[in-house]
Amino acid sequence: MSELREIFAGETGLGGPALLELRPRWGSAEAIAQLVDEQLRPAGYRLVGVFDDTSDYARSILGFRVTHSTAWGRFVYVDDVSTVPEARGHGYADQLVGWVKGEAARLDCEAVHLDSGVAASRAAAHRLYMRHHLAITSHHFSVEV
Ligand SMILES: CC(C)(COP(=O)(O)OP(=O)(O)OC[C@H]1O[C@@H](n2cnc3c(N)ncnc32)[C@H](O)[C@@H]1OP(=O)(O)O)[C@@H](O)C(=O)NCCC(=O)NCCS
Repeated sequence: MSELREIFAGETGLGGPALLELRPRWGSAEAIAQLVDEQLRPAGYRLVGVFDDTSDYARSILGFRVTHSTAWGRFVYVDDVSTVPEARGHGYADQLVGWVKGEAARLDCEAVHLDSGVAASRAAAHRLYMRHHLAITSHHFSVEV
């Protein structure tokens, strides 16, 4: 039995382990929760999680924000999707991606956008996005400065 719910400011740590799994550069679940609360939430970031009876912590998370651009109008941008390894294959990320599409429509957005790396380690994520009819619409360019 699982429950999907928003993880609000003050309880961000509940999503820490799943976030850290995806973003190890931040070093600890506490550090990434602090980043979310102090820098990302003030800019509109929201966190949603799936919980089950195996842990108090979210087993799977999705972090997103509503934003605007000249190219895409008003849209939801998904920053983070991650399921802790021991909880994969139960449809938790599936629930979250389905939920965020509904939330984007509810918030009068035109679309959901996200970036995903091209490494083999992202293959499961690519299958997930394809199942939800997200299309590959861009090349993403970046340069270190
Ligand atoms: C990509 C990721 C988020 C998917 O999370 P997940 O919760 O395992 O996803 P789901 O359970 O919804 O789907 C995974 C598989 O289980 C299957 N599945 C879905 N519901 C299921 C169920 N109830 N029972 C059994 N299998 C199920 C899906 O069909 C899918 O199969 P596939 O991999 O062959 O396509 C997870 O693998 C992950 O965290 N990866 C590392 C981080 C990452 O790449 N994040 C994305 C960054 S862009």
